[in-house]
Amino acid sequence: MRFDVLTLFPDMFSVVRDLGVTGRAHAQGRWALQAWNPRDYTHDVHRTVDDRPYGGGPGMVMMPGPLEAALQAAQAQRASAGLAPAPVILMSPTGRRFDQLAAQQLAASPGAVLVCGRYEGLDQRFIDRCVTDEISLGDFVLSGGELAALAVIDAAVRLMPGVLNDDASAVQDSFNPALSGLLDSPHYTRPEVYEGVSVPPELLSGHHANIARWRREQSLRLTQQRRPDLLDAARRQGLLTPADERFLSLLATRRDKSPGDPGQG
Ligand SMILES: C[S@@+](CC[C@H](N)C(=O)[O-])C[C@H]1O[C@@H](n2cnc3c(N)ncnc32)[C@H](O)[C@@H]1O
Repeated sequence: MRFDVLTLFPDMFSVVRDLGVTGRAHAQGRWALQAWNPRDYTHDVHRTVDDRPYGGGPGMVMMPGPLEAALQAAQAQRASAGLAPAPVILMSPTGRRFDQLAAQQLAASPGAVLVCGRYEGLDQRFIDRCVTDEISLGDFVLSGGELAALAVIDAAVRLMPGVLNDDASAVQDSFNPALSGLLDSPHYTRPEVYEGVSVPPELLSGHHANIARWRREQSLRLTQQRRPDLLDAARRQGLLTPADERFLSLLATRRDKSPGDPGQG
């Protein structure tokens, strides 16, 4: 997989290229990253990439020319590496919300060109001519698309086979099919008692079926509390077992505190 990133701040991408699991996978050659700075595709002495918006108003807008020249260079290099033209994904608060399914699709693909906006955004003509998809990280506005692109790259690369030490750990994460798309259960490690609070006895029992049931129930409980929409989706897809439904009905009648509840402990 290869990511090409159009950005005015290429140095920001050392975070995924050099550090952590994505950095290790990059060093192993499992994925590649190339940053393209639109400033390198300008023709004036100031290397201008932005200008005032037509119609007036605050801020500046990224000019289409340097962006398109940088994109052409990126696609040409991908072609010479034998890759098909990649989707061109603009990071944008007006885009489709990024989620685990989109990360899975990206992880199974040859990669993409990610476009990072700055200022008030990009000239619409570049978007209309060149962008195939728009992704939002959420309903908030960042100063630039770089943090969004870093999140997208990280979420996709960690799903590639062999990137995590234990491939099963990604499968057990929140939103994954192995968890019926629900939230992950709480985790514990040593010490067995911390500040007077013990690890839940089920996890110390060594009884695999009981441990699995406890984790499933915690996952159901947390999802019901925080993301009932995910629970509804799992139910619609027939992913909840009769035992799950019995536990959820029981929950509705109980009001005790559990791990992860706000204010617990
Ligand atoms: C200050 S923002 C521009 C916001 C734009 N004027 C608007 O209101 O939709 C600059 C750039 O940050 C990026 N950005 C900001 N928020 C984002 C989000 N929630 N998801 C993805 N990218 C975002 C986009 O690339 C955007 O072009």
